[in-house]
Amino acid sequence: MTPPLETPRLFLRPIEFADAEQIQQLFPQWEIVRYLASRVPWPYPPDGAHSFLRDAALPAIERGELWQWTIRLKTDPARIVGAINLRKSDDENRGFWLVPSFQGQGLMTEACDAVTDFWFDVLQFPVLRAPKAIANVASRRISEKQGMRIIRTEERDYVSGRFLSEVWEITAEEWHARKR
Ligand SMILES: CC(C)(COP(=O)(O)OP(=O)(O)OC[C@H]1O[C@@H](n2cnc3c(N)ncnc32)[C@H](O)[C@@H]1OP(=O)(O)O)[C@@H](O)C(=O)NCCC(=O)NCCS
Repeated sequence: MTPPLETPRLFLRPIEFADAEQIQQLFPQWEIVRYLASRVPWPYPPDGAHSFLRDAALPAIERGELWQWTIRLKTDPARIVGAINLRKSDDENRGFWLVPSFQGQGLMTEACDAVTDFWFDVLQFPVLRAPKAIANVASRRISEKQGMRIIRTEERDYVSGRFLSEVWEITAEEWHARKR
């Protein structure tokens, strides 16, 4: 199950069905979805958040294949500002999005550090991998800041089309060495 996590500025709360309404209001923005995987439906349907939670996320969480949090500022914990997840998968272990007006303050780097600790220290996976479009500069920068390495370059399909992408990786050993 997904436990609550905390960072200096953020609460990461396990996602629940009641979050669907806020997510439906926030998530369908081009700036958020354009470099997300093409399985995200676009145009986003009016029940997109509800059906994602009911049919995909919550069952995967139940099966122990997905850990998903909403992101909230400690100064305003009722309001969702983004989401982050971890999943069992060969190459797609971590995903995230943040409402544009909250970007550029280092918030997702903070959230990524907390969930990456959880991935290696609690779930004890040996490696974390995440693909990113090369054009997604902010997301790639987070990988760089976390000490990840590029292991492969390939074309991948996103909401806004097919782009050259990199698969980034860090092992548990590298993550722990970096923190020492
Ligand atoms: C990716 C995303 C979560 C980043 O959130 P954020 O809170 O702004 O990220 P941070 O502030 O922690 O770090 C972003 C880094 O990228 C840098 N950055 C952002 N835009 C940039 C740009 N256009 N050119 C160069 N650097 C850029 C920031 O300066 C920062 O690096 P720094 O700390 O060295 O200054 C946010 O942009 C987002 O939600 N994007 C849409 C969803 C998405 O693409 N998710 C990832 C799919 S792989």
